[in-house]
Amino acid sequence: MKKDILTLLDLSKEDFELLFKRAFELKKQLKEGAAERTLAGKTLGLVFDKPSTRTRISFEAAIIQLGGTPIFINTRDTQIGRNEPVRDTARVLSRYLDGLAIRTYSQDLLKEYAKFADIPVINALTDLYHPCQVLSDLMTIIECKGDYTKPKIVWIGDGNNVCNSWINAAAVLGLDLVLACPEGYAPDAEILKRALASGNGQLKVTTDPIEAVQYADVIYTDVWASMGQEGEHGKRKRAFEPFQVNTALLKNATKEDVVVMHCLPAYRGEEISETVLEGPHSIVWDQSENKLHMHKAVLDVLMTRVVL
Ligand code: CP
Ligand code: NVA
Repeated sequence: MKKDILTLLDLSKEDFELLFKRAFELKKQLKEGAAERTLAGKTLGLVFDKPSTRTRISFEAAIIQLGGTPIFINTRDTQIGRNEPVRDTARVLSRYLDGLAIRTYSQDLLKEYAKFADIPVINALTDLYHPCQVLSDLMTIIECKGDYTKPKIVWIGDGNNVCNSWINAAAVLGLDLVLACPEGYAPDAEILKRALASGNGQLKVTTDPIEAVQYADVIYTDVWASMGQEGEHGKRKRAFEPFQVNTALLKNATKEDVVVMHCLPAYRGEEISETVLEGPHSIVWDQSENKLHMHKAVLDVLMTRVVL
């Protein structure tokens, strides 16, 4: 049976641990100049409906480094853009490829791909989730804090796709997660409800960013208007202004070794100030690098094993 990653709820705690272990191994090997070519002869299709720098290029580099080949599929240039049904596309692509990484708007469309494809389908971002982002972010947190259950992780800003994936991670792994979102921009209620019902870890939602960052080990932010929400930019800017991660907000963080994360792209002067993004607490470049190592682990595990 093939395994998909459509949401982080598709993974057990053991699956997470396996991916972390493999990502750290692959990172070490790369730094030592050694290369495992476990995906020689395999091909990954990247079906992207939205722009991407990091996710696309790190997945492409990941499969190349593992000995395989990426094929980037811009939906506008294929029959997908002329409304060929997903169920047909998924079955055809399964005959040519060994895996699919998909970035699109609707989570239901992604589910449709997964239902009809015989090959692993990986969510490379939808409006609802960004699971691979949070997988690599957890790797970064383990790297700098030694563990993922102890650090207090504070999300500041929009209750968006990345935030929803953090909530799922909290439900599976039992994280200490605080979400500070403006009124009207809270995360998806169902996702939150399910996570709270899991009874795992500590999950708190607030509208007060100052209180939220107080004992934070990790402060995480993301854009105020995600891809597809550009028309709401002005309205959102007004609601999100008190949620900018800047020097004044960081003054409320009591821990000296607090780190600041951002999945990028960042809009300096909006969700994060230039000073904080480029400052001593920011770990965004290491965070961004780990997408490569984690994506290698994801491809290696999904494309070489029958079960995780
Ligand atoms: N963080 C992230 O997913 O970036 P891209 O949109 O550039 O892929
Ligand atoms: N929330 C952002 C993440 C970009 C990586 C978006 O969906 O645009």
